[in-house]
Amino acid sequence: MTVLRARVLGVGGYLPARVLTNDDLSKMVDTSDEWIRERTGIRERRIAAPEELTSTLGLHAARAALANAGIGADEVDLIVVATSTPDETFPATATKIQAGLGITRGAAFDVQAVCAGFIFALSTADNFLKAGQFRTALVIGAETFSRILDWNDRGTCVLFGDGAGAVVLQAAEGEGTSDDRGVLSTHLFSDGRHHDALYVDGGVSSTQSAGHLRMEGKEVFRHAVVKLADSVNEALEANGLTAEAIDWLVPHQANARIIIGTARKMGLPMEKVVMTVDRHGNTSAASIPLALSEAVADGRILPGQVVLVEAIGGGLAWGSALIRW
Ligand code: COA
Repeated sequence: MTVLRARVLGVGGYLPARVLTNDDLSKMVDTSDEWIRERTGIRERRIAAPEELTSTLGLHAARAALANAGIGADEVDLIVVATSTPDETFPATATKIQAGLGITRGAAFDVQAVCAGFIFALSTADNFLKAGQFRTALVIGAETFSRILDWNDRGTCVLFGDGAGAVVLQAAEGEGTSDDRGVLSTHLFSDGRHHDALYVDGGVSSTQSAGHLRMEGKEVFRHAVVKLADSVNEALEANGLTAEAIDWLVPHQANARIIIGTARKMGLPMEKVVMTVDRHGNTSAASIPLALSEAVADGRILPGQVVLVEAIGGGLAWGSALIRW
């Protein structure tokens, strides 16, 4: 049976130049390099320059992904941006990136699922491409979490960083089996009962201000490993695959302990896990495409390999996607 698949043509990332180390943070709040490294695996993160907005970061990543794909912006007819830190309340940050790329056709919009945003955006684009409504999509995760952190709260400000990553997808014919190249499946979940575990205490409708990130770290941690393992198992089952079939696990980069815990639950050796959290911190929706771009650029991820991506974040919202690269 011939079906349409969203095939990955290219991937790219962008990190702001400014590095903020754990030692830098220890001069701002009562913390230490040792505490941060032991509890999270993070050594440093990037912080956007004042003039760099989420769309600036996203535009750099989009250009890198298009160059990697070897296609021009004029081929793109869908842009989906995952972000929780949009430039403005409206319009969508995606439309600013669209204009920056000089694209005047097709559609551009944002999706909001916080740290799981890239999986939700990928799933959205995948479904549009499979349905034949659009042909070539840019899926972008772009964030400036430094702008919503409470820099006096040591429990949260040490965890996050800024950045952007993007993938180019194009509809191509496949056989409808797990041997097809492209997005094989996506699984999305939300449970709004866990709002208080991770949220921002502001917004247009509630306080008319941007607010700051608030988190019950232990609560998030508790849900993360269980929910991620469940969604990963669903992804494998849906494709008739076992964990041995996975060439690379590219998880959301929130915390090295969550990543190691998930890999262990799946029985995956750490050599098959892509880790960037030590250098990027948690860049929310940007973390997976940033990690993908690194692992493609250094030759780890190769065409035809099976890549599993998964994430959880505020909502709670979580999910996974299986891709044959
Ligand atoms: N530096 C030093 N001490 C810190 C600290 C910091 N940056 N942040 C918190 N502490 C202190 C706490 O105040 C607490 O001190 P106390 O025992 O005197 O009260 C102690 O460290 C333990 O705090 P706790 O919050 O219980 O630590 P933890 O082991 O749960 O680790 C996290 C905290 C945030 C690293 C951990 O819960 C976590 O990673 N959770 C998941 C968060 C996440 O990934 N969120 C994003 C999902 S998208």
